[in-house]
Order: sequence, then structure tokens, then C-alpha cells
Amino acid sequence: MAHPNKGSESEPRVCAYTRTASAVLTHCVCIVFSVFMALLSRPGTSWFSWHPFCMTLAFSFFMTEAILLFSPDGSPIKRFPHKTKGRVHWILQCLCVSCAVLGLVAIAYNKHLNGKPHFTSWHGLLGLLTVCVVALQSLAAVPLIYHSLAKGWSLAKLKRYHAASGLVTYLLGSVSLLLGLCSAWFTASVGEYAWYLSALCPALSALLIMNQVTSAYMAKKRLKS
Ligand code: HEM
Repeated sequence: MAHPNKGSESEPRVCAYTRTASAVLTHCVCIVFSVFMALLSRPGTSWFSWHPFCMTLAFSFFMTEAILLFSPDGSPIKRFPHKTKGRVHWILQCLCVSCAVLGLVAIAYNKHLNGKPHFTSWHGLLGLLTVCVVALQSLAAVPLIYHSLAKGWSLAKLKRYHAASGLVTYLLGSVSLLLGLCSAWFTASVGEYAWYLSALCPALSALLIMNQVTSAYMAKKRLKS
């Protein structure tokens, strides 16, 4: 997709630099946060350890990268055709859903082993909703590949709904991650500064992704009117 502001002479160069810098920052934040959580949780050391690892990989890494690849400023496959981007997007989203389901199974099984009740915290409840929504969102995206499945719906309309609901799913994932960071396990594992820095990661990524998706669709609207 051509950048909405490309070719517009009124845009100061500093704005273009800022957009590129924020896309690069989002890549760095999601990678650093995922590596940090992997080091902290040490996956494989217990059933629990798989939960923060898989969930961070799903929502901070795979889902963020799946959306960022459409960024006109910071996509790692910027020069590839839109069709290729769509394909890489759904592969990353399938990985996201698979990791989310594995993370959910790990924590549910861990609770079962310890005889603890399920879905009793805000994090547990919202987390369950997030995993259901991301699975539904992925199923609802199938007509974007097989358009004949959604008779009477234009592709443009399907794409608009997919982007809007995808953004809501991303925000749900970010809030679930943040609530996970408030858990007794995480607060006991890190110091105060590390906690604030960690919390900044999903919050910042959510703001930058929200900006990317809304500006792409606002620009399309502007072009139409
Ligand atoms: C978007 C990402 C996440 C989702 C969707 C999610 C989902 C869930 C769900 C559904 C449960 C409840 C399982 C049950 O009751 O059987 C749970 C529990 C838990 N999660 Fe997560 N989680 C996420 C990220 C994290 C992260 C990053 C951490 C740690 C930093 C974490 C730590 C915990 C802990 C300690 C529990 C057990 C206590 C509780 O039920 O609140 N989670 N999570």
C-alpha cells in the first residue's frame, strides 16, 4: 500500500523520520520484551514457565510483527507485493493463535496439578476472553482468502471490519499482558524499575500499532472523499 502522505510536499521531512523511528522502536520493543520474558520464565523448567513465555511470544512478538509488516514505514518486507504480505500475515497469526492456545493449556494444566480454581482473577478472565477472541478473529478472516465464503460482502468491507476487530483483539492482548505483569509471580521476580520498563512495552506497542492501523484507514477515507 502506498503511504498516504507519500508525494505530498507539505509533509515535513521530520515527520517521515519520526514515523520510521516509531516503527523501528516497535520492532525493538516487542523483540526485547519477548527475549526478556523468555529469560525470566525459563520455559521448560515447569508447566507454569510455558505460560508467560508462550503468551508473550503470541501477543507481543507474533501479533505485533503480523501487523507491523503492513506498516508503510517499518515493514521488514516493505518492497514485497501486498499479496505476499497477506500470506506472511496469516502465517504469523496462525503461530500467534497456536502459541496462545499452548500458553492457555499450560496454565490451566498447572492449576489443575496444584488443585487451584480456574479463571478467578481479572487476568485469568480477560486472558480467556482474549484467547477466544483471537481464535474467532482468525476464523472470521478466512473469507479474506476464500472470498466466496462471504457472499454479499465486498472485499473492501471485509478488510475494514477485519482491521477494526483486529485492533480490538490487539488491545485485549496488550491489556491481558499488562494484567499478567501485575501477577504475584512477576512482581516477585523483578524490581520496581524493571516492572515499569516491562509495563511500558505492551503499552507503547499498543499505542504505536493503534496509530498505524487508524492512520492507514483514515488515509483511505480521505482518498475516497
Ligand atoms: C495476552 C497474554 C496472556 C493471556 C491471554 C493470559 C491468559 C491467562 C489465563 C486464561 C489464565 C487463567 C488460567 C486458569 O485459571 O486456568 C492466566 C493465569 C495466569 N497468568 Fe496469564 N495470560 C497472558 C500473559 C501472562 C503474562 C505475560 C504473565 C506473567 C508475566 C502471566 C501470568 C499469569 C499467572 C501468574 C497466572 C495464574 C494466576 C491467575 O489466574 O491470575 N500471564 N493467564
